[in-house]
Amino acid sequence: MDATIVSKLQKHYPVLLKEVISVISPQHGGTFIDCTFGQGGYSKKILEFQNTKVIAFDRDFESKKIADRFKQNFENRFLFKNIKFSQLNNLKLKNENIKGIIFDLGYSYTQIKDPKKGLSFEHEGKLNMQLGLNSYSAEDVINKLEEKELEKIFKFFGNEQDGKYIARNIVKYRTENKIDTKSLVKIIDKSKKRKNYKVHNATKVFQALRIFVNKEISELINGLINATKTLKKDGVLVVVTFHSLEDKIVKYFFKSLSQNKSISRYTPLTKQSEILFKLTSKKPLVPTEKEIKENPPSRSAKLRYVIKKKDFYNFDTDICDQFKKLIEIENFGNKLWINFL
Ligand SMILES: C[S@@+](CC[C@H](N)C(=O)[O-])C[C@H]1O[C@@H](n2cnc3c(N)ncnc32)[C@H](O)[C@@H]1O
Repeated sequence: MDATIVSKLQKHYPVLLKEVISVISPQHGGTFIDCTFGQGGYSKKILEFQNTKVIAFDRDFESKKIADRFKQNFENRFLFKNIKFSQLNNLKLKNENIKGIIFDLGYSYTQIKDPKKGLSFEHEGKLNMQLGLNSYSAEDVINKLEEKELEKIFKFFGNEQDGKYIARNIVKYRTENKIDTKSLVKIIDKSKKRKNYKVHNATKVFQALRIFVNKEISELINGLINATKTLKKDGVLVVVTFHSLEDKIVKYFFKSLSQNKSISRYTPLTKQSEILFKLTSKKPLVPTEKEIKENPPSRSAKLRYVIKKKDFYNFDTDICDQFKKLIEIENFGNKLWINFL
């Protein structure tokens, strides 16, 4: 969902900015990693404090253009890499004293308004949904995957109850025509048995496709693991999520590494979690009524954070087992690009 949103005045709004800053405390200086640079809302605020440095990532090449301007203003206090955050351990940052790592998940207002990105059902044209550095597009997914696979993607990533009928009609339609954004919206409209008049019929399928195309589940899991390996003792790991799947993953990861006992009594002793984090609150921070009023899409944002308690890097986590089903579904996409190697 939209984290960086623009009001009627086209003003840029980084969600929960005050809360993020209060949790990471940049007023004491230090190096921070902004894993989702976007328009640079968080990075800019951190760099306003003396003696801070920011290492920022974004998979979207468009963010690099904004980052280039930051480079001019902040020179050796700012570094940007156009990479996916799952690759953050490739940068060998273990010797840096990283005080905070921030993830602001999803996509920005600018991205959803860009017709080339094809994220919105409001734009006509080619189905795309690639945020950057992807291996396949939503057009490949819709036109090439099997009916059963599409049904699972819609069900597990979009919670779409009519996924079965939608998948069936997609497969029927595509024997004659290539499916684009407009035709997909029509197929969904025709297939939906349970109409919800509050949200657009295509909302859930489009969310599911975006998660699938960008491998958001594996990205988040690997991002969290690698961020934890990079963070020093007393460093803070902050994640802002926008839908329940993301929040479930973050909540599980934080909880499982914050307690001694295993989450499941069936988990073997050897696989039990390390106490690596201090979890300050079980409840997430959410936007104030004022923020929601100024920026309505922020209403679904949830901020969770933990503090790393040890300089310990080879921890054990069962997060991949826990979300195995979702990872397996994401891997349906492998056949869309492996054939081209
Ligand atoms: C909600 S926006 C971040 C907005 C940012 N906090 C700001 O204040 O401008 C999310 C950004 O994360 C990027 N992103 C999403 N998944 C990513 C991934 N796996 N690796 C790197 N960047 C990612 C998107 O391209 C998008 O620019």
